[in-house]
Amino acid sequence: EKTESTDSKDTIKFGTNAEFPPFEYVTQDGVIGEFDGIDIAIAKDIAEENGMEAQIENMEFDSLIVALQNGQVDAVIAGMTVTDERAEAVDFSTPYYTATQVMVVKDDSDITKASDMEGKKICVIQGYTGETCVKDLGYDYEAFKKGTEAIMELVNDKCDVVVIDSATAQKYVADNDGLKIVEDNDAFDSEEYAIAVQKGNTELLDKINTAIEKLISDGKVSEYAAKYTDA
Ligand code: ARG
Repeated sequence: EKTESTDSKDTIKFGTNAEFPPFEYVTQDGVIGEFDGIDIAIAKDIAEENGMEAQIENMEFDSLIVALQNGQVDAVIAGMTVTDERAEAVDFSTPYYTATQVMVVKDDSDITKASDMEGKKICVIQGYTGETCVKDLGYDYEAFKKGTEAIMELVNDKCDVVVIDSATAQKYVADNDGLKIVEDNDAFDSEEYAIAVQKGNTELLDKINTAIEKLISDGKVSEYAAKYTDA
């Protein structure tokens, strides 16, 4: 006779980097950190739609694609922008969110467009698409491991501008006095976030796509976006 196992359900192991509110962050309540955010809610729903359970593995953003390639995680959900370079290394799901890079500056900043960053101290986050954008514009910059570190540089007047994804920027501006967002849609293209799986893992990709497409058409993704943006 078969004995009942406590984890009889199959799991999807999602890799993320929980340093990116409102998509993924470590909740403050409790001694042991738990994860929450738009992506975490989506990951749980994707697993549930497939009669499975979501497991979240937190790691550095730069390690996510390697962890996926090594089979350490089954999928990556991390507000990850689809880029040609990444698409050579992983397969992406149907996109679920559209974002853009923006500039976070002090309220009294004279930066009103991307070209005003020339000669300024620019902060980016290592490995994020914002880093690529600034590099492509040809400006020098300093790269930090975490968004909060870059924002603290700005708050403490050690840099002039932080280039980061729009929704995350909004969070930082809401949480810190004296900051504002400057957009430049001519300089920064729109970006699409998608879930990544190992190249050729069509079985899991199909499961994820069926679920994410349902979550989009059901309005669940918009619901989570609204909920966690206001949180
Ligand atoms: N969208 C940007 C990118 O793909 C930033 C993503 C950062 N995500 C995170 N979970 N830290 O590079």
